[in-house]
Amino acid sequence: MKGRNPMADKPILLLTRKLPEDVEARAVRDYDAILNNSDAQMRANDLIKRSKGVDAILTCSTEHFSAEVIENLAPSVKAVATFSVGFEHIDVDAAKKRGLIATNTPDVLTDATADLTILLMLGATRRAYEWGRTIRQGEWGRWIATEKLGTDVNGKALGVYGMGRIGRAVAQRARGFGMEIHYHNRTRLTPDLELGATYYADADAMLGQVDVLSINCPSTPETEKFLNADRIVMMKDGAIVLNSARGSIIVDDALIAALESGKLAAAGLDVFDGEPKLDPRYLTLENTFLMPHVGSATLETRNAMGFRALDNLDAIFAGREPGDRIA
Ligand code: DGY
Repeated sequence: MKGRNPMADKPILLLTRKLPEDVEARAVRDYDAILNNSDAQMRANDLIKRSKGVDAILTCSTEHFSAEVIENLAPSVKAVATFSVGFEHIDVDAAKKRGLIATNTPDVLTDATADLTILLMLGATRRAYEWGRTIRQGEWGRWIATEKLGTDVNGKALGVYGMGRIGRAVAQRARGFGMEIHYHNRTRLTPDLELGATYYADADAMLGQVDVLSINCPSTPETEKFLNADRIVMMKDGAIVLNSARGSIIVDDALIAALESGKLAAAGLDVFDGEPKLDPRYLTLENTFLMPHVGSATLETRNAMGFRALDNLDAIFAGREPGDRIA
């Protein structure tokens, strides 16, 4: 196991996964970096074992820093910087208790995730899965005026559940498509951020007013299982559900039943409860447009996430407060 090299005077940084080339190059330049060239996911035991002699860990959301892992990390580990905005994979209370600094990467993935949400919306409303399959399977036959018709978004009401950075970026894009914006957030936005959107202090009151519901809140005990069968009943018949936040916010049985019955017209989903093992029934439904959790998957955004994580670590090792401290 690697020990600190006092001559090099660089903190030892363990990267749990393979990161974009420019991010790894900067990590190698500024740290005594231990790269994960095989890109194998690290389980609890790997994290504990590989933390020996390490000053900090740059992790992804695929590695789980439970209370047990955090308590058993080598005493040399001062910080964990996650390459993600979501941080439900880090037990923040356990980190605070141990005096471990933890950081995330907000802001830099807002636009990419909002773009992906619009892709989900257009994919779901325009039946992109069915049409895409038709052309790939050579079934593009004669033109039929009534075949597989989608629905316009122009003039429709979009309900954003969670009007943080990403929710607001989705709303901004949807305005460009001529949509009317409704939202629920724990606190009402100021008028300069609300931009005329209709606010609902009670999320349930919004559900029956919107044609498309976009889930953009973080996963917390309050938001978990929000979209359940009782709430789907409150929605308009033929409404569409989008989720680019976290799978845990939707009750799969309820959403799948509504997609099967036609109560909901379609769903655009980038995140799934228990991913990567999603409920297989989603795969057999014609009215789903599915992506494998790729909201931030552009080169520019992944670079920016890595640089932001390194900025946080640089601040910590320079004795400054990191910009994105979560613990
Ligand atoms: C994030 O950054 O939280 C993305 O969803 C990837 O996990």
